[in-house]
Amino acid sequence: MKLAKRVASLTPSTTLAITAKAKELKAAGHDVIGLGAGEPDFNTPQHIIDAAVKAMNEGHTKYTPSGGLADLKAEIIKKFKEDQNLGYEPSEIIVCVGAKHALYTLFQVILDEGDEVIIPTPYWVSYPEQVKLAGGVPVYVEGLEENEFKITPEQLQSAITERTKAVIINSPSNPTGMIYTKEELAALGEICLKHDILIVSDEIYEKLVYDGHKHVSIAQISPELKEQTIIINGVSKSHSMTGWRIGYAAGNKEIIRAMTDLASHSTSNPTSIAQYATIAAYSGSQETVEEMRQAFEQRLNIIYEKLIQIPGFSCVKPQGAFYLFPNAKEAAALAGYHNVDEFVAALLEEAKVAIVPGSGFGAPDNVRLSYATSLELLEKAIERIKQFMEQKMNR
Ligand SMILES: Cc1ncc(COP(=O)(O)O)c(C=O)c1O
Repeated sequence: MKLAKRVASLTPSTTLAITAKAKELKAAGHDVIGLGAGEPDFNTPQHIIDAAVKAMNEGHTKYTPSGGLADLKAEIIKKFKEDQNLGYEPSEIIVCVGAKHALYTLFQVILDEGDEVIIPTPYWVSYPEQVKLAGGVPVYVEGLEENEFKITPEQLQSAITERTKAVIINSPSNPTGMIYTKEELAALGEICLKHDILIVSDEIYEKLVYDGHKHVSIAQISPELKEQTIIINGVSKSHSMTGWRIGYAAGNKEIIRAMTDLASHSTSNPTSIAQYATIAAYSGSQETVEEMRQAFEQRLNIIYEKLIQIPGFSCVKPQGAFYLFPNAKEAAALAGYHNVDEFVAALLEEAKVAIVPGSGFGAPDNVRLSYATSLELLEKAIERIKQFMEQKMNR
């Protein structure tokens, strides 16, 4: 069967490919340490699980409104007000099947064939594919390592054409962990306002910020920028709820209405039980969120120092999320490989450590290591990488 043109150029996720290879090696009896994970290694907090069980027992197992339960929207609105002093109406919120689905639905409703979306590199793997699936054209702007992987207003300005529809800002970033400051966002925002470009602000790692760094949403800067921005967020990372699949979008009523109409013909609604669990996640104690954040911060500070001691690795210290994104070009060369992709493959085959090559994130000289795994395993993995380098360099 000939598949549709739409999917012919789909690139499968590199993150999932490395995870599959690591699993294969594990199944064959190898002691592989996987640092590819894009999800917290903690259980979903018990009170959230209890709320889901209660919801099922109370019969909340039926369709819900396509845009999400009114009570859940109310909790999300409360969260926006309390955390970011942003005011939204229920008609400005849609609850989706994860933040990924919120983004997918958004691109489907805003893009026509040939419309351009500016994607700063390094980027989260799904952005370009989602844009292309909606008929859009990704336009890459390189976030330089020497500028903490962030794009400048000049770079943004020069990427704009008549077809530019939107720009994606992902702060804290997957894969770099970098956070845009308020001043940086204000400067980028000014250009977006001038050219009437929609800002897609992916804030899924909002709660995971370290060493005193603060997350600011571009929508907080001015009422004009709030109007120009669709915020994407969810509970996957903050509440360790990746499998529950709840995320949401907030912003312009018309866009949200179109997204809701589209969802009514695709998902109908996010799982009712997961929506009730998310009500508990937001209305209950946030202590577990902070406990997870502290555990990540501790790991980052230990593992970062060890990583930069390894020959050939240099790394801008991440400020948020749960990834390290070192430049490994020199390490690959020192170990005798042509490029970082080959180096990553050898590291998995020989040292049994699975990390993700940066090529999938639009940064082929870098690698992504997730620290969403125990400190013990992280230290063991770093030791293996170190030994691998020593062996290769002493040949
Ligand atoms: C930057 C970014 N945005 C969105 C998502 C999707 O989150 P969700 O699990 O809520 O779909 C992820 C997950 O890896 C991510 O890293």
